[in-house]
Amino acid sequence: MSSGSFESLSHENRKFPPAQSFSKNAHISSLEQYSKLYAESEKNPDAFWKAQSENLKWSKPFKTILEWDEPFAKWFDGGELNASVQCLDKHKGTSVWNKTALIWEGENEDKKSLTYSELSQLTNRTASALKTLGVKKGDIVTIYMPLVPEVIAAMLACARLGAAHSVVFAGFSSQALRDRINDSQSQTVITADGVSRKGKILDLKSEVDRALQNSPTVKRVVVLKRAENTVNMTVGRDFWWHEIVPKAAECEPVACQSEDLLFTLYTSGTTGKPKGIMHSTAGYCLWTQLSTKWVFDIKAEDIYWCTADVGWVTGHSYVVYGPLQLGATVFLYEGAPNYPDWGRFWKMIQNYKITILYTAPTAIRAFMGQGEDIPNKYNLSSLRLLGSVGEPINPEAWLWYNRVIGKEKCPIVDTWWQTETGGIMISPLPGATTTKPGSCTLPLPGIFPAVVSKEGRSSKPNEGGYLIITRPWPSMARGIWGDPERFKQTYWSEHKGVYFAGDGARQDQDGYFWVMGRIDDVINVSGHRLGTAEIESALVSHEAVVEAAVVGRPDALKGQSVVAFVTVEKSWKDRADDKMIQELKSHVSKEIGALARPDEIRFTDSLPKTRSGKIMRRLLKEIATNGVAIGDTTTLEDAKVLEALSNED
Ligand code: PRX
Repeated sequence: MSSGSFESLSHENRKFPPAQSFSKNAHISSLEQYSKLYAESEKNPDAFWKAQSENLKWSKPFKTILEWDEPFAKWFDGGELNASVQCLDKHKGTSVWNKTALIWEGENEDKKSLTYSELSQLTNRTASALKTLGVKKGDIVTIYMPLVPEVIAAMLACARLGAAHSVVFAGFSSQALRDRINDSQSQTVITADGVSRKGKILDLKSEVDRALQNSPTVKRVVVLKRAENTVNMTVGRDFWWHEIVPKAAECEPVACQSEDLLFTLYTSGTTGKPKGIMHSTAGYCLWTQLSTKWVFDIKAEDIYWCTADVGWVTGHSYVVYGPLQLGATVFLYEGAPNYPDWGRFWKMIQNYKITILYTAPTAIRAFMGQGEDIPNKYNLSSLRLLGSVGEPINPEAWLWYNRVIGKEKCPIVDTWWQTETGGIMISPLPGATTTKPGSCTLPLPGIFPAVVSKEGRSSKPNEGGYLIITRPWPSMARGIWGDPERFKQTYWSEHKGVYFAGDGARQDQDGYFWVMGRIDDVINVSGHRLGTAEIESALVSHEAVVEAAVVGRPDALKGQSVVAFVTVEKSWKDRADDKMIQELKSHVSKEIGALARPDEIRFTDSLPKTRSGKIMRRLLKEIATNGVAIGDTTTLEDAKVLEALSNED
């Protein structure tokens, strides 16, 4: 098994036509229909977006479609709407209202389901309780919760009040939570007493308490009882969810401007701390709705499962906002994929007759490693569509997914997008696009990506280059919270007037996109995005560490693994042993979260640097991967450093 999409080019020309049942019934049901829609969006964008905007429920119509003051966009200016109305109230009086919105299963097989009307009631009460506590339009509410129906109600309750949510993945440590709270100046935190993972309780409330020791802005904490875990409640600051939500009243939605902030979501970049990516109301709602309809082709009877946690953008767009706007039945699973064994996913697909599965290549590779006998024990015949997201899917994993899980009858949508794009940009449309294993194929209507050289020249077919998007789109990030300069610098300065995604890619002779992965100092571990700088600063915050350089090494299972080169302070040199390696690994887990824990730590006397003092990560990456550096070393200040590192293997 190889880890990159490009090691197995022999598969490239093996094409898979869309499944017949899709071609007949899909929302976009032929290549001709797709091409026509795409051409319309290209030739007359205003008319195209105006027509699409009718899919939203407006309380006041907008005046202009797009005002573009590069790189800041205003979509549908003058309009008013509320995101919770798009997901809930809009369905009142239709057949969706009494239909199941959420089916939830916990790790211990506890079960719960809510209709749209019940989810609406829960959201209303949560909004009303938050309002009574003082949450208001324009606030930022931090949500640090397990994947339970209440987390969705909490997100939608914020939207109902016109407050932005900032969801922090519950696997992040108290320090990471603290940094995110402090950056956003959030005054409210919603959390739970704990979450059960592989039979063990993770004490979320204690993490919050630790974070709040250094987060002075927080005035109130709402705590959901989830794990029967004993926690400390601070009088006047902490409130039990069950004491304030069930007795709260209905809550009218606040009228929000199209451009009002719907949420911030922190994601890793190349430098320093994670950045709060900002998304606004109308454009984000419109695009998540359209892309869900086109890519997942959701129908009234579908049971749809996106396995992402709401702590990531995939959970925001394709667990919450996209499918709920379409009135879909969404399945949620709170636990680990291999608990109590590797059959868990397939058992749930069988039991709940799940029809659409959207997951990450790293999960597919992990299942693949366990052998096909496990999924073969279960009846997976309900599945009709499979999706992939988060990292390049290598053709071997694609073919296994197609054969063993999809039984060669389910189209596979390999969807390329990012936290910053808000929704899917490039993906097959299941009724229209012939797929090629490993390629995310073609852009969605209204989206104009391209591949260019460093100088901005269009790449030739099959020539690698940088992935850019040349026109604004409704769900594009509106900025980085508190740092407009960084937003301009990171995404809009590499090539004039276009969005720079930070990914390497090529387009083949058919115009299909093949995304190779990050070209910057961001690494992708099990579909989770991590900044090397972030892990380095966690390492140097340990008293023994003087300097650290972190690189990603290709990994057959996780896509990339984390390798750290560390120099220690003189007085610690004698103690630079296995015990210390474990200590440093735990230190990173404590600083960021277990997902950033280095797989390997190597001690070194010095790091390879250019004459101007920049660490040459490229060489370290080669050493981590191949044991030696064979690339250009002419700019290296001291060649001996490299010898010492290479000899270590
Ligand atoms: O490198 C690309 C990779 O994930 C990055 C975005 O990460 P994040 O903002 O955390 O969002 C992940 C979920 C959308 C991208 O820059 N990526 C995402 N999807 C794909 C992908 N790489 C290749 N193929 C994909 N389908």
